[in-house]
Amino acid sequence: METAKLTLRGQDYELPVFEGSEGEVALDVRNLRAKTGAVAYDPGFGNTGSCSSAITFIDGEQGILRYRGYPIEEIADRRFSEVAYLLIYGELPTAEQQAAWSKGLTYHTLIHEDMKKFFEGYATKGHPMAILSSMVASLSTYYPGNDDSPEIVNLNILRLMAKLKTIAAFAYKKSIGQAFIYPRNDLSYSANFLRMMFAVPAEPYEVNPKVERALNMLLNLHADHEQNCSTSTVRMVASSGANLFASIAAGICALWGPLHGGANQQVIEMLEHIEADGRNYKKYVDMAKDKSSGFKLMGFGHRVYKNFDPRAKILREAAQDVLAEMGIDDPLLEIAQRLEEVALHDPFFVERKLYPNVDFYSGIIYRAMGIPTDMFTVMFALGRLPGWLAHWKELRDDESGRIHRPRQVYTGATERHSG
Ligand code: ACO
Repeated sequence: METAKLTLRGQDYELPVFEGSEGEVALDVRNLRAKTGAVAYDPGFGNTGSCSSAITFIDGEQGILRYRGYPIEEIADRRFSEVAYLLIYGELPTAEQQAAWSKGLTYHTLIHEDMKKFFEGYATKGHPMAILSSMVASLSTYYPGNDDSPEIVNLNILRLMAKLKTIAAFAYKKSIGQAFIYPRNDLSYSANFLRMMFAVPAEPYEVNPKVERALNMLLNLHADHEQNCSTSTVRMVASSGANLFASIAAGICALWGPLHGGANQQVIEMLEHIEADGRNYKKYVDMAKDKSSGFKLMGFGHRVYKNFDPRAKILREAAQDVLAEMGIDDPLLEIAQRLEEVALHDPFFVERKLYPNVDFYSGIIYRAMGIPTDMFTVMFALGRLPGWLAHWKELRDDESGRIHRPRQVYTGATERHSG
């Protein structure tokens, strides 16, 4: 067995080394404290492998993203329900498995009628991410079953996959004072969601197939991204034995933050601001370089990618195509492209390897679809749900797993007394 040598205070220790299937090298420090008395210090976890996982592979240096081994470029146009199955169960479904999975996904789309009353209690202008997470946590009051039985796990996975879009669309309808539109089970995941968002009871509604296709792709591109902040949160909460709904509700809250999924909303607000301010790109790039300004170029930079985010590459092209197909001329697309050009030629961004991330172009497509800005992060959550579910399941299936409980290095006052 390969080992690494650690010398601490004159004493040598051997640390086991192991390799992942794509050659990443890891030092196994599980016994570090027991052997040496020291802990590994890694705030922000930039160097910490919190688990081993067989779901998603990212090579941030080369800009590679694969779900269960399949490159994202091949996956982007598959049916979202198939991609969800792949992530959660490890293989693309056979025709028979897909039929059963799709049937379950449509059968469970309704929420309990009593849950509709919850929407009445939220403030009209309340952020839909708050509504989404509290409604998901509330689902556990309706489905309290035993999460340790595989039948219940699979049923709850189906329930949540099917219901999240209904909850999301109802939250939007509530915010604009329109009637809830019930799901229609003959439609695809994306078409069903679009109808629940945009149909009104007084008129017929036809789903635009171009919008349906674009939404399907956006959901796929967001479906998993290994141990990001929200997924790590789901795993952390799940490690305590918390149920599936509670764990995912926590992930939704983590996603909401502007440094994570909340960035897609902030990108559009930033681009609108630049438009209103006379399109002075250099001013905003300079501001982002000045740390004292507190301003960052939203949609730029990534903890893992030190190259183009492959999802951003796909979305950059897609934004152009979707807008052209729909005959929409959105000035924000040009502003985004020009801003990207200026930033990518600036030594600050070049040296730090800061490239557009998935959030930079996604909002422009959501806007073209008619999705309001404060729903953008909800759209991200709909896409990310299969990833969260896959990680929740992987963690719960791992019998060797322990509760996640990091250590700290205490730097506060040493013992003192008040008297
Ligand atoms: N604008 C300006 N400077 C930036 C930006 C940015 N968007 N991103 C990083 N930097 C700078 C940092 O100031 C730092 O500079 P320094 O080395 O001189 O101190 C350097 O680049 C490295 O950045 P860190 O913040 O250390 O990188 P970290 O991995 O901790 O953060 C993050 C990654 C949070 C994504 C960061 O790049 C950021 O805040 N971006 C804007 C928000 C955003 O787009 N979030 C979405 C991420 S993708 C997702 O979650 C789906």
